[in-house]
Amino acid sequence: MTQDSVKIHRGLVGVYFDRTKTTFINGKEGVLEYCGYSIHDLAENSTFEETAYLLLNGKLPNQSELSQFNTDLINSRPVSSKIIDIIRSIKDAHPMDVLRTSVSALSTFDEEAGDKSYEATMRKGIRLTSQVPTIVMAHNAIRNNKELIEPSKSLSHAANFLYMLNGETPSESASNLMDKDFIVHADHGSNASAFAARVCASTQADLHSAITTGIAVLSGPSHGGAAENVMKMVKEVGSPDKAKDYVTNLLKSKQRIMGFGHRVYKSQDPRAGHLREGVEKLSHEKGEPEWYEILVAVMDAMKPYQRRGINVNVDFFAGVIYHLLGIPTDLFVPIFAVGRIPGWTIQVLEQYEHNILLRPLLEYTGEHQQKYIPIEERK
Ligand code: ACO
Repeated sequence: MTQDSVKIHRGLVGVYFDRTKTTFINGKEGVLEYCGYSIHDLAENSTFEETAYLLLNGKLPNQSELSQFNTDLINSRPVSSKIIDIIRSIKDAHPMDVLRTSVSALSTFDEEAGDKSYEATMRKGIRLTSQVPTIVMAHNAIRNNKELIEPSKSLSHAANFLYMLNGETPSESASNLMDKDFIVHADHGSNASAFAARVCASTQADLHSAITTGIAVLSGPSHGGAAENVMKMVKEVGSPDKAKDYVTNLLKSKQRIMGFGHRVYKSQDPRAGHLREGVEKLSHEKGEPEWYEILVAVMDAMKPYQRRGINVNVDFFAGVIYHLLGIPTDLFVPIFAVGRIPGWTIQVLEQYEHNILLRPLLEYTGEHQQKYIPIEERK
């Protein structure tokens, strides 16, 4: 029994499966645009709220649209006390497990959970954009036996996120850097978590299911987990002069250097430069320049690999920024999720709009015509 000869696209490398009006990426030239706007322009001039509006609506908001959007986001920040009870009951789990479980549970308290209309899905996407940071920080307070900090009714998305860490209003430079981080993480084409969210939506599952799927897929070290691993690496390197040997030893043993390489970008990841500037400034501001110096030394050691298209990616600098902002290492992946909710939401909406069940094929390479042997006769 044979199958017609098939061409396998392992890892779906280079496969286009649909069209999008949201994010454009040219991996060869290192170009990233959201709805036609350069990531550089947005990172320098926009805010996360404005960028989220852009992604969700396909256009930049005017002043009154942005004010209404901000109000909707702020009003959506609190989460039900029943979610807090769930978080308490699983407080010792990894924050990504707590986030995945809590977002899944949120659907049971959301009156529109099963409504897959465009309007309801958009409203749920806005609610989730605000609830996810509250969940991440509520869990952080609970596991540290600290009082819960109610989300602010006036701070920006980024400033509120840092505020919920310890109840202190962050400095302007800290919240600007967090804002930039959320902007550059807001969407990224058909990355693994967005693709998985689309697969889920293609079965006509609801937004909470799709975003729970996205969170699960983001948790892996090849995707969202890299920033956490970069921080571990930087601590292990210890000082800039040890970077070269560290990198050489890892590469010799066929291990990967975290924060390097990307499936799509074969030149510099255009998001990375914005965070590089931020980490350089912040590490000097905090009087801890060695973190940035170690990153630079690791980059120098990796220079020969640029020829093979292995460059720093967005996560290389993100980890040290979070560390300098006083964020615990295991919250690094959840931060990625905080920024990515608008991206997952619009991709689910795009999938619904022009839906087709995402169902590829596998070429079977196992045995055929095996004879069934009763269990008592098997060796
Ligand atoms: N360090 C060392 N070598 C690498 C690295 C790296 N970080 N990344 C890729 N390579 C090498 C591979 O060993 C492989 O070499 P080979 O051809 O000699 O076997 C070659 O480059 C191609 O690697 P692939 O795994 O085929 O490339 P792919 O496009 O599938 O990988 C990935 C992309 C998974 C991101 C990879 O670069 C990696 O593991 N990087 C480290 C983890 C990381 O930083 N992830 C964050 C990605 S960005 C994000 O999710 C926001």
